[in-house]
Amino acid sequence: MTFLTPTIRERLLSRAGTTGSATILAERTPKPVVTIRPARPTDFPQMLAIFRRVCATGDSYVFSPDTPVRQVYDYWFGRDVEATCVAVVNGHVIGMYRLIANQKGRGSHVANVSIMVDPDARRDGIGLALGRHFVAQARAVGFLAIQANIVVSTNDAILALARKLGFAKVGRLPRAFRHRKFGLVDAYVMYLAL
Ligand SMILES: CC(C)(COP(=O)(O)OP(=O)(O)OC[C@H]1O[C@@H](n2cnc3c(N)ncnc32)[C@H](O)[C@@H]1OP(=O)(O)O)[C@@H](O)C(=O)NCCC(=O)NCCS
Repeated sequence: MTFLTPTIRERLLSRAGTTGSATILAERTPKPVVTIRPARPTDFPQMLAIFRRVCATGDSYVFSPDTPVRQVYDYWFGRDVEATCVAVVNGHVIGMYRLIANQKGRGSHVANVSIMVDPDARRDGIGLALGRHFVAQARAVGFLAIQANIVVSTNDAILALARKLGFAKVGRLPRAFRHRKFGLVDAYVMYLAL
């Protein structure tokens, strides 16, 4: 659990604008609480919106922003997914992560992780809170390590966050990612032993 700073509150308020929830956020809960909890299917529309915004920039995930809804749903809620959690403030999803076995069978003790934070909610500790949560969660369900398979070399935010969580770069994949602005760029494989 974490508290929102004034900055994030203002950004969420300005977006909440016409919904009426702004008043509640501003006047009744001066320190809104961010809760991280297991995702529910009813969270999916908000998760989909974040997914589309994140993928539209073409600088972090391989997915096209117009990936079919069913495919996005299965990505977060499919049968093989070990855990999907969301960060929520006043019922509004502002970020999420997914843990899944990186390989089947003899590689299934290593988790793979995906993380996304709403662009309007960034730089306020949500990513770090989700990161600490997925590390604890991965340990709790018995994974022995977490691997990120394609960390784009130009993605300063995730590189800094991964470093804070203790991940090490264990490999460099030359020109493995087709960046929307920069063209072919390198990517890292990152690893955290638990
Ligand atoms: C990566 C991401 C999850 C970080 O979320 P966030 O909520 O902004 O992260 P936090 O506010 O918790 O920041 C944690 C630390 O990460 C680093 N960081 C975050 N954003 C950064 C940025 N834009 N540039 C440099 N460092 C950054 C900082 O060290 C920060 O700590 P600080 O604010 O105390 O300096 C978010 O930027 C995101 O969703 N990006 C798109 C999806 C993505 O890249 N996922 C990973 C794919 S491998």
